[in-house]
Amino acid sequence: MKILVTGGTGYIGSHTVVELQKKGFEVIIVDNLSNSFANVVDKIEQISGIRPAFEEFDLTDPGSTSDFFERNNDLDGIIHFAAYKAVGESVNDPLKYYRNNIGSLINILANMKTYGIENLVFSSSCTVYGQPEILPVSEDSPILQAMSPYGNTKQISEEIITDTSLVTNVKAILLRYFNPIGAHDSALIGELPLGVPNNLVPFITQTAIGIRPLLRVFGSDYNTHDGTAIRDYIHVVDLAQAHVVAVERMINHAGKKKIEIFNLGTGNGFSVLEVIHSFEKVSNEKLNYQIVDRRPGDVEIVYADTSFANDELGWKAQKTLDEMMLSAWNWEKALKTKK
Ligand code: NAD
Ligand code: WQD
Repeated sequence: MKILVTGGTGYIGSHTVVELQKKGFEVIIVDNLSNSFANVVDKIEQISGIRPAFEEFDLTDPGSTSDFFERNNDLDGIIHFAAYKAVGESVNDPLKYYRNNIGSLINILANMKTYGIENLVFSSSCTVYGQPEILPVSEDSPILQAMSPYGNTKQISEEIITDTSLVTNVKAILLRYFNPIGAHDSALIGELPLGVPNNLVPFITQTAIGIRPLLRVFGSDYNTHDGTAIRDYIHVVDLAQAHVVAVERMINHAGKKKIEIFNLGTGNGFSVLEVIHSFEKVSNEKLNYQIVDRRPGDVEIVYADTSFANDELGWKAQKTLDEMMLSAWNWEKALKTKK
């Protein structure tokens, strides 16, 4: 079984390639390296013992994309990770986000239609729910007005895929990730934020290792037990394994509808302070942090109702918060030794 993984040298993509290989899938990665490095292919090979095929080109380019599909028209499925993901940057440069995230998706769907490729797994996000009224948030919660152009690209992408499935053989599983963190146990692959990280966990590990002087905790006046905002953090390897299950479900025709949507989280909400305390415990480091004002656009509390994914996919996230933080810390330390 041959799977195209777009964005396969990126953070979640690279972990998914490893899990696919473990299950015997043949993988082809396409990535333009706009937010990752070619040596990730070597790291994947080091972990799995198998070197995935890799082609470097931009999926927004219709010519390169159709040339690729002409040569690879026998794909059993596609996992489409390739996208830009920085929320703040998307506010300042919305066209960059619409062009890349929507343009690449359209090119992929057009070629799926041309070559009769049926199975698509798409990276969506819990950001489509905004601040849900009912918690935990289930898949049928209303989609709220997007808080950023990035979030809007995910909403629009879900609609484009759904519309396309109505008039072609394309089927899709839309996976709405909550907050992916952590790294592979080998510490050979992990998240590589370029520049100053926006996300909490890379900011914590970079502060602890001395790259950043201080972590700012955004807001302590939320309506939560300790006043800091609550999220559903999920280990990237748990997340990666859910993609393998999703691909298998599609290939085995086990899906119940042409478009299926699953939340991928643990179902547990943790506050920013709880994340910091977990980090301090597993790393034995004291973190320098300071409480500051809320970050504009942040939601107060969001965590997943995972029952649908657990029941239908037979998948459940396994790793604890402490395990997530330890793997993130081991990855940060491994990066330092390489410098
Ligand atoms: P990432 O930036 O590490 O990986 C994305 C990869 O796609 C990168 O390697 C990048 O070089 C590549 N890419 C981007 N545009 C491309 C293009 N036009 N052509 C070819 N390659 C291209 O990001 P990630 O964290 O692994 O995220 C993967 C997917 O999951 C994205 O769609 C993202 O929006 C989604 N997602 C991520 C999170 C998160 O917190 N990390 C949460 C929810 C959803
Ligand atoms: C988590 C918590 C911050 C940094 C973002 C995207 C979302 C999705 C996942 C892609 C929040 C607090 C953070 C810091 C802090 N990505 N924080 N100090 O905001 O839940 O979601 O990534 O789809 O679309 O918006 O994740 O890691 O940025 O923040 O106090 O320096 O940590 O306020 O409460 P978020 P995050």
